[in-house]
Amino acid sequence: MDIFQKCGEFDRPAKVKAMGLYPYFVPLSGHVGAEMEMQGRKVIMLGSNNYLGLTDHPYVMEKACEAIRKYGTGCTGSRFLNGTLDIHLELEEKLASFLGKEACVTFSTGFQANLGVIGTLGDRGTVLFIDRKNHASIIDGTRMGYAKVVKYRHNDLENLRHMLETHREHPGMIITDGVFSMEGDLADIPGLCDLGAEFGVRVMVDDAHGVGAMGAHGRGTSEHLGCEDRVDILVGTFSKSFACIGGFGAGPEPVIDYIRHVARTNIFSASLPPPAVATVLAVLEILREEPGLVQKSHDAAERCRCGLRDMGFNVGNSEAPIVPIIVGEDLVCFKFWKDLFENGVFTNAVVSPAVDQGQAMLRTSYMASHTPDMIDRALGIFKTVGRGLGLI
Ligand SMILES: Cc1ncc(COP(=O)(O)O)c(C=O)c1O
Repeated sequence: MDIFQKCGEFDRPAKVKAMGLYPYFVPLSGHVGAEMEMQGRKVIMLGSNNYLGLTDHPYVMEKACEAIRKYGTGCTGSRFLNGTLDIHLELEEKLASFLGKEACVTFSTGFQANLGVIGTLGDRGTVLFIDRKNHASIIDGTRMGYAKVVKYRHNDLENLRHMLETHREHPGMIITDGVFSMEGDLADIPGLCDLGAEFGVRVMVDDAHGVGAMGAHGRGTSEHLGCEDRVDILVGTFSKSFACIGGFGAGPEPVIDYIRHVARTNIFSASLPPPAVATVLAVLEILREEPGLVQKSHDAAERCRCGLRDMGFNVGNSEAPIVPIIVGEDLVCFKFWKDLFENGVFTNAVVSPAVDQGQAMLRTSYMASHTPDMIDRALGIFKTVGRGLGLI
């Protein structure tokens, strides 16, 4: 059998395209803003992770351009060898200080951060306890280092306790998303830290959707839940609130230094390019000066959440600037997506394996730059389309 055979047999996208319902790879034309242009139509953007709305902020863009003028467009080497700039070090120091951690190491994406941190710490003889709904990059990270992997039911601390009791004998780490990326619900981080302390295992939080989006100062879900000091390792991304691309791991200095020297996704991959580093530094500055931006994205989300719930949509249990609209069947979801898009609202259609089979949903997400008027217009469109399809 030819290794390519499966590709020729893979016909799901073609079938959905033939129905005119394919919702993926839609090109954006211009800045990712609260309202923007896509395929020649103006849409209210409810499908971006640009929570602080800073991807087109004039100061942030100017800092990115300045960095290109000073350092050029790329580093063409790994942090380990020829790819460390002075601004990488400045960023790691400032980010660690912002997050209240001893040290920080950056990666070129959040995905690589999870592969690097988890693959390095989760080596042979260790046990990693992971929530069933953790992000794909966490799952893949656990496959990197030969650790034993134990999955517990989503946010089910009793189930986790049982797993911890069964695997007491090895060094271990509990790993969880802070904000679960699709549905926007939060991990019970204080409860996980209690179990970590009781069983002598470490706790790592991937707060890709929390840092810059949760907590009074934007320090993330553990700030929001009042347990920042108890989380051993914090992983995050620059591809959401930080308005560009990249990722990081933060924690105790000896652990971060070890990861810096051992993580293969750091050593064997080129470092973050200068404009990305400068963008994150500029966003950090803005976040320190205007922490109220975090609340603004929550206000927009709450306005939409309440409106959708009042109309009768199932909006799940999100506490983040993410609101899922759970519809169930994939094709219903794709039709809902298409009618919304044609009427001027862009959302993300999410189906299995990102969510469980039969739990297809539209994932909507909110920015500090969404105005009440934009949200109300979007709600009007949800109502018309939802009624047209018999969803409400
Ligand atoms: C929870 C979580 N972790 C990690 C990542 C990966 O981040 P990046 O886009 O920086 O690779 C994502 C991105 O979707 C995410 O949602």
